[in-house]
Amino acid sequence: MCWVLFLFSIFSYFSPILSIDQECYMTVPEIANHFGYKSEVHLARTKDDYILELHRFPCAKNQQTCSSKKPAIFMQHGLLSDGFCYIPNMPEQSPGFVFADAGFDVWIANSRGTPASQKHVGFGPEDQRFWNFTWEQMSQFDLTASVDYVLRNTSQDFLYYMGHSQGTMIMFARLAENPEFGAKIRQFHALAPVATVSHIGGLFQLFGKKFLEYVEILLGRLPYTPLSIPKTIQQIISFFCSKFIMQDICTLDIGFIDGNEKQFNQSRVGVYLCHTPAATSVKDLQHWVQLVKSQKVAKFDYGIDGNIIEYGRSTPPEYDLSKIQTPTYLYWSKDDILADTQDIRETIWRQMNHTIAGSLEMPHYSHMDFVFGVNAAQELYPKIIENIRKDFDGWRKSKIHGF
Ligand SMILES: *[C@@H]1O[C@H](CO)[C@@H](O)[C@H](O)[C@H]1NC(C)=O
Ligand SMILES: *[C@@H]1O[C@H](CO)[C@@H](O)[C@H](O)[C@H]1NC(C)=O
Ligand SMILES: *[C@@H]1O[C@H](CO)[C@@H](O)[C@H](O)[C@H]1NC(C)=O
Ligand SMILES: *[C@@H]1O[C@H](CO)[C@@H](O)[C@H](O)[C@H]1NC(C)=O
Repeated sequence: MCWVLFLFSIFSYFSPILSIDQECYMTVPEIANHFGYKSEVHLARTKDDYILELHRFPCAKNQQTCSSKKPAIFMQHGLLSDGFCYIPNMPEQSPGFVFADAGFDVWIANSRGTPASQKHVGFGPEDQRFWNFTWEQMSQFDLTASVDYVLRNTSQDFLYYMGHSQGTMIMFARLAENPEFGAKIRQFHALAPVATVSHIGGLFQLFGKKFLEYVEILLGRLPYTPLSIPKTIQQIISFFCSKFIMQDICTLDIGFIDGNEKQFNQSRVGVYLCHTPAATSVKDLQHWVQLVKSQKVAKFDYGIDGNIIEYGRSTPPEYDLSKIQTPTYLYWSKDDILADTQDIRETIWRQMNHTIAGSLEMPHYSHMDFVFGVNAAQELYPKIIENIRKDFDGWRKSKIHGF
């Protein structure tokens, strides 16, 4: 937050003429229309009364009508992101559009707290109660409501799931807690997967171990508030971050990636930063800090007394990944400092050994390259498309033959 204020105080004296692509000012459905894709907005209501927007691209480019007998793919964004992360680049590079063109029914989710999903039946985002959530509730309520909505609306029994970062965590947690939900998920494609975060070494190298304590103290002072940046400030940041020298810091493209391995479209960085970071709750970040410290995959820790009230035990319950039965595909990179390879090996790989259907190491991908990188459309998405097609065709044939 400091650098945000710092940038703002320096640059608020200028009146920058923003030379950023117009997608900066558009919503996800508007961007889709802009690039020639039909888009729909759907609303799903969660059990705890949040209203979430789902964005759908039912057809390929420049089609207004199309068959509904397609595999549905459900795309779930990560922390401080929203549905925009699936359409950040040109159509032939952005996963949302690549899958639509490949014959998928594309559904893009927006978790509670993101700009598209800041509605609740009982109170608005100005109320503290609105921001009383972490990824745990996204997993328990948002994911289930959104997936059920898609299955109802498409009259299908299952869908294919693609999650990035925190978007993999909420699925791991759901499948671990109620495996019967797994019957609705035909395949789970996990981009930059995170479960435990014990080894996010890169962050410590950058900021030092004390950093975590400061963050925890700081966050503890702001419970039940949104973590977001006002739109005007975000646009100013986006302008200055689009300047070459600032890009690495602004996009968190830090760690071990060399300059010549960069995968962001440099001239789009301004657009990325108009939409990212998207809002979430301070409590969500607190939960992540707890996981780094505890080295576990557990529910939110309210302290001993709070845990007894909330869970009837002194420590928060842990998620048991070995309960997961859904075929899972992992896509990861040694250069990703957040989804650390050692964490993936020691937790996901070990506990889910029997249900890992595939694993693909990506060369020199930073954490955001899985969605923002321009190479993924050649190196990554075709692999996912192939796996799903094979499965879907097999399923269709078996149905025809009456199995
Ligand atoms: C937030 O949720 C927790 C857990 O359900 C509850 O104990 C607490 O009272 C809630 N706080 C607010 C401000 O709503
Ligand atoms: C799906 O949603 C659309 C738009 O809200 C609606 O028109 C349509 O009837 C729904 N289909 C089903 C099967 O519920
Ligand atoms: C980068 O984005 C611009 C639009 O901002 C686009 O015109 C250009 O083709 C993109 N470059 C690459 C390499 O994809
Ligand atoms: C899964 O576990 C078994 C036994 O522990 C081991 O032999 C096998 O190599 C593991 N498979 C993978 C893919 O790690």
